[in-house]
Amino acid sequence: MRLVLIMDGRFFVASIPPYSIEQPERKYIKMKEKLSKILDEALALVQAPDADIEQIKIKYLGKKGELTAVLRGMGALSAEERPIVGQLANEVRAQIEAAIGEKTKQLQAKALEEKLKAEKLDVTMPGKALPMGHIHPLTQVQRELEEIFIGMGFSIAEGPEVELDYYNFQALNIPENHPARDTQDTFYISDNVLLRSQTSPVQVRTMEHQKPPIRVISPGRVYRSDALDATHSPLFHQLEGLVVDKGITMSDLKGTLEIFAKKMFGEGTKIRFRPHHFPFTEPSAEVDVSCFVCGGKGCRLCKGEGWIEILGAGMVHPFVLSNCNIDPEEYSGFAFGMGIERIAMTKYGVDDIRLFYENDERFLKQF
Ligand code: PHE
Repeated sequence: MRLVLIMDGRFFVASIPPYSIEQPERKYIKMKEKLSKILDEALALVQAPDADIEQIKIKYLGKKGELTAVLRGMGALSAEERPIVGQLANEVRAQIEAAIGEKTKQLQAKALEEKLKAEKLDVTMPGKALPMGHIHPLTQVQRELEEIFIGMGFSIAEGPEVELDYYNFQALNIPENHPARDTQDTFYISDNVLLRSQTSPVQVRTMEHQKPPIRVISPGRVYRSDALDATHSPLFHQLEGLVVDKGITMSDLKGTLEIFAKKMFGEGTKIRFRPHHFPFTEPSAEVDVSCFVCGGKGCRLCKGEGWIEILGAGMVHPFVLSNCNIDPEEYSGFAFGMGIERIAMTKYGVDDIRLFYENDERFLKQF
């Protein structure tokens, strides 16, 4: 818009931006209209079923929102109009906020209702049983053995499964080329290092570190280069026992094993010593228990024998004591070793050692 002014006979041309000719009155009415439009629009949006409340807040009430934009334009109003528009704007804001508050409550209630519906629990439905695992039968038997010997004052000693030839053989009076090495052929890591073929090396390790009186058991894994069949496994478990003190005799060994046999297989159990040979005990014996199924008459479990072999034992050989710097003139001791699988098979009438390692639930469940 251009105005041409004539003053003192000269022309002046002035450009006037278009808004300046808008009537202040008009501006005031427009703002009022704008406010009521904002209110109508905002309320309609809030009431929509899928209203996005956060978006609506930003669009209308936020710092860059439409309501704020209207308030910013209030500078153009007259001093009388300003408070009226200001109050109107506040009312619009209050109404939008109230509608949003109400809608938020509704949405929350609806969400809660949906959640409750989704999580509805029928307590009269039958329960789902969780299958429970349990201790492996070999571990159960091992723990039972430990309990019995701990009850007699033994403590538990441990040794490595990867063992030196010295502890597994030489210190136990089995020098190189001794025939006893054949029956305990094992897996070699090097000429000197092997997987222990028995728990007896723990005897030597214990005596090297502990002076008498000694009363220990040592359960653990042992290895032999045997093919897996119903009665052999290249990996199995033994439990070793060792007692060393002044005046220990064969009768201490018999008494200890008798108590053990009664606790493990029943009060009526008898034991029997048969002469045997182990390089690290002298004298040595194989020990049988009377069959707890037939009581000695002969049955399927004892294969008609009436007796079942359960362990090897004997008096610790003086050479072994000397190897560990224990004076055989002053001290004596006994030792025994049993196969944990054999004890478990005997006690539970299991006829195939492989069942312990196959982890077939149908077998394991029975223990
Ligand atoms: N270590 C022997 C074996 O594995 C058992 C045994 C242990 C015998 C202790 C006597 C004394 O056959």
